[in-house]
Amino acid sequence: MIVVLDFGSQTTQLIARRVREKKVYCEILPHSASWAEIEGRSLKGIILSGGPASVNGRAGSPSCDPGILDGRVPVLGICYGMQLLAHAGGGRVSRAAKREFGRAEIQIERPSELFRGLESRLTVWMSHGDEVQAMPEGFQRLAGTSNAGLAAISHPGKKLYGVQFHPEVAHTPKGPEILSNFIFNVCGESPSWKMSSFVETEVERIRSQVGKDTAVCALSGGVDSAVAAALAHRAIGGQLHCVFVDHGLQRHGETERVRKVFGGIFGERLKIVNARARFLKKLKGVGDPEKKRKIIGTEFIRVFESESKKIGKIRYLVQGTLYPDLIESQSVRGPSAVIKTHHNVGGLPKNMRLSLVEPLKSLFKDEVRLLGAELGLPNEILLRQPFPGPGLAVRVLGPVDEENIAMVREADRIVEEEIRAAGIYEQIWQAFAVLIPVRTVGVMGDARTYEQVIAVRAVTSQDAMTADWADIPRNVLARISNRIINEVRGVNRVAYDISSKPPSTIEWE
Ligand code: XMP
Repeated sequence: MIVVLDFGSQTTQLIARRVREKKVYCEILPHSASWAEIEGRSLKGIILSGGPASVNGRAGSPSCDPGILDGRVPVLGICYGMQLLAHAGGGRVSRAAKREFGRAEIQIERPSELFRGLESRLTVWMSHGDEVQAMPEGFQRLAGTSNAGLAAISHPGKKLYGVQFHPEVAHTPKGPEILSNFIFNVCGESPSWKMSSFVETEVERIRSQVGKDTAVCALSGGVDSAVAAALAHRAIGGQLHCVFVDHGLQRHGETERVRKVFGGIFGERLKIVNARARFLKKLKGVGDPEKKRKIIGTEFIRVFESESKKIGKIRYLVQGTLYPDLIESQSVRGPSAVIKTHHNVGGLPKNMRLSLVEPLKSLFKDEVRLLGAELGLPNEILLRQPFPGPGLAVRVLGPVDEENIAMVREADRIVEEEIRAAGIYEQIWQAFAVLIPVRTVGVMGDARTYEQVIAVRAVTSQDAMTADWADIPRNVLARISNRIINEVRGVNRVAYDISSKPPSTIEWE
């Protein structure tokens, strides 16, 4: 495997993705991971990510265990990573006379494994304020920038490489070749990581973890819990029970879809609980979004617990935690600020004392989709757009009731149908309807109306951390608007949300 040490760059995850795309297993660890922690794995090389700090920063610039840099294993330092290589070896890093952000040209000056097979001039992406001004002993210059700065360095004896630019981003066209050269030529990795071998090893791992005990999984209708359940089912079959809590806040047809797809797999061991009435009762009159989330979270756990008790003695909870969920909490930046409390369906009920089985915790979302396909799950589940745990309750602003939930569900169905009919469903991260419970004046037939507003929200995104509003063709928007006003009783106006994230969020609540 290849380990990426995270120094806080925005692109750390992207580096790991690029390595995995080459069928090489890769994990991200915090920069503070010790050599002892790292070497226990079947390690072939280390990549040091970029980061916002300066190696000369006064308040403890992020560093790494010196044992990592003494030649035991090849290292590629990217941006901050290169500056750290230079600084740690006794070189000089200072504020660049001219900061470089964006496209740049570099000139390769000396043959090396890192640039093998590439032309001597390359377009790259730079983003740095500091630069290496004097190389440490034993290092040599591999490439320079157009203003004579250092673009790449190496210590051939210790197999240490540093690049000032970002090979992981799409704006460095030869980046994939440079990373391949490091991974295969320098580190001697082989492209052997594939989904079928992942399935085999995880199935074994789950079997030995669970033994003869019973496990339960909360299905949400979404991709992650579905794939986690399918994988656990392959491992422990009849020892796995699934519970789907129908809180009445799902998209159109969700319960039927879950019954159709999972009923076939789990049979009697799939429990679909109709808890619609109790959720609505608890939510009655509650307008504050955070309160709504808390109520739904608590209620969910109550229903889930009481259903689990009926199954018998359960020791394990299967959860579809993904890799990004995991590193978020251990990154150098620490847990990110809580903008919204995310109620994750399937979150561990604290007093149940269940041990967790999290078979997806080393995977990214698109890898989970590939895994789901390997396990035979249909695209109808695998290619669904994400949907928040609290469901339609956060898509009706203010208090929810049966009527306004039904309105937003109907509008959401129309948005989904039209987006699918236009063939753009899979290019869009999420497209949905939000009910704004204010009234505006309209005219229908010859009569005045005074009814509510639906906002249509559609965004493109890589990971939901940032998003842009989607440029949906005018005729598609026109059909959506027309159908919503004609088909959803009580709505006489449709607005399209043209805000990006940040500063707005994807959901309205
Ligand atoms: P925001 O609105 O924060 O959403 O830009 C980012 C992504 O997270 C989803 N989301 C949630 N998911 N529980 C969830 O499980 C929640 O409370 C929740 N709130 C937002 C949202 O749909 C988007 O994909």
